[in-house]
Amino acid sequence: MNRTFALKGDIIFSQTPQTLAVHPSHYAVCEDGICVGVFTQLPKQFAEIPVMDHSGKLIIPGLTDLHAHAPQYAFRSLGMDLELLDWLNAQTFPQEARYQDLDYACRAYSIFVDDLRRSATTRAALFGTLHVPATHILMQMLEESGLETFVGKVNMDRNSPDVLCEADAQSSLEATRIWLAGCQDLKHCLPILTPRFLPSCTDALMEGLHRLQQETGLPVQSHLSENQGEIAWVRELCPEARGYGDAYDRFGMFGGCPTIMAHCVWSDAEERARMKQNGVFIAHCPQSNINLSSGAAPARTYLDEGMHIGLGSDIAGGTHLSILRAMADAVQSSKLRWRLLDQSLSPITLPEAFWMGTRGGGAFFGKVGAFEAGFAFDAVVLDDSDLPSPLDLTPEERLTRIIYLSDDRAVIHKYVDGRKLF
Ligand code: GUN
Ligand code: FE
Repeated sequence: MNRTFALKGDIIFSQTPQTLAVHPSHYAVCEDGICVGVFTQLPKQFAEIPVMDHSGKLIIPGLTDLHAHAPQYAFRSLGMDLELLDWLNAQTFPQEARYQDLDYACRAYSIFVDDLRRSATTRAALFGTLHVPATHILMQMLEESGLETFVGKVNMDRNSPDVLCEADAQSSLEATRIWLAGCQDLKHCLPILTPRFLPSCTDALMEGLHRLQQETGLPVQSHLSENQGEIAWVRELCPEARGYGDAYDRFGMFGGCPTIMAHCVWSDAEERARMKQNGVFIAHCPQSNINLSSGAAPARTYLDEGMHIGLGSDIAGGTHLSILRAMADAVQSSKLRWRLLDQSLSPITLPEAFWMGTRGGGAFFGKVGAFEAGFAFDAVVLDDSDLPSPLDLTPEERLTRIIYLSDDRAVIHKYVDGRKLF
């Protein structure tokens, strides 16, 4: 397919965390899948390229979901009255155990991949389950979807029910190698090492995963400092560690290679400094943090301290797959934190949430999340004509409405790396 073309419309992207670049009726030029820039008129050397005219529509960068559990999409919104650890035991583990059954895995994952493909998300970092065949099925579907994703076969060899627990570190590591061998031909859905979280991995498993990371150079994702009950448990399990992040760091599993830690609701100054030093990406998942009574993460602090931070739906801790919705949730959660917890920190703004959902999380994938020269051309065309208004709204106001209404029906076209998905 020809990956050199221009999109015309009302183009919006983040310039900095605080400022949006708004270009009404401009051209975003894509050459071989890479963004050349945004122009009032087509530059001479591009006079002959195809132009897709979306005048009157909004064009934004594709969104990144930095943390979601693909197998949990099937039961999203059920059992939301529990806190994290009870929810894992009562809902999540029994549900994930179903992915032993490949018929079920095919049905469940095809629904998830279809919905992700239709959404405004172009890139995602996803958890599978511990099952190798089901995780391969998920990855093959994603590979064919046109999206750019990372997927992890989950490692868990303790503190889990028999139906969802690997026998020991050795068998978990062997399964991981078999899984990796089956990922070699994939180009758009790549493997990421995925110890579920510290309570579900023995020391021997963490040590083995560290060795595997060193050998393969693969990225890593896990959960960190999400919920008070979980943090107290980690303190019991690792009394020698200075904190949750330190417990990962002792195994060499806390950055130094591309690493995502989901949640970070309760990370103290020492943990934050270590994340910053080690280049760890924070996946901020505000809706999940509300649903599972985890809290309100200090997003303002993370932005002010210049941390890598993106947004995650955390399906099914979060019920909504939409990263537009995650942007609105991030602002609302930050406002509650400011009002109820810490009035010295101002709430984050919508442009800051938009930045996290585009450039912030996109940076995990490279130059992603803006229409600047050299960035991957990931674009979403939004049609808000089903949201009539008597007001004369600016492009920025129209985008704000779409974010707060978080309706994927507004997404009419999507491009990833200059490839048109629909
Ligand atoms: N911590 C360990 N596993 C999970 C999970 O599946 N969801 C969330 N939100 N936190 C976790
Ligand atoms: Fe999660």
